[in-house]
Amino acid sequence: MPYANGQQQRQERADGRSGSSPPAGYGDGGRSDSRAPAGGGNLEIVSFEQAAQSCIECHGAKKQEGKFSIFDYQQMPLEEKAKRVWPRLTHSDPDKRMPKGKPQLPPSHLRSFYLN
Ligand code: HEC
Repeated sequence: MPYANGQQQRQERADGRSGSSPPAGYGDGGRSDSRAPAGGGNLEIVSFEQAAQSCIECHGAKKQEGKFSIFDYQQMPLEEKAKRVWPRLTHSDPDKRMPKGKPQLPPSHLRSFYLN
């Protein structure tokens, strides 16, 4: 099985492969290291429910800022996601970037948006 020697690989990562760690500032991204698939980068698998936690306080049941509800996201047409949501996740203007007033989402969370 691919993970047969996982123990050993994990050891190698811990010892020397600091180059593969996410850059500082990516929040919890670093936690993924021990579960990263061999050779598959070190992106943690984050469920959409988990990623959406960053939005829920402003786009959840109580508030829908900008008339956007995170519960609608997965049913949105791909084109609408691409135009309306995705640019906001990586926007260079901090006032436009979501989650508003917080650091940009780490890559593992961005991926969850793009895949869901
Ligand atoms: C602290 C509150 C807050 C959080 C957290 C937040 N947003 Fe927002 N969001 C806003 C506000 C306020 C607006 C309306 C003003 C604007 O467009 O910037 C908005 C607007 C938007 C819009 C624009 C809707 C439209 O069609 O114009 C999208 C899309 C969006 N947010 C997505 C997200 C996503 C995805 C997350 C989580 C990753 C998130 N937001 C987290 C406050 C927040």
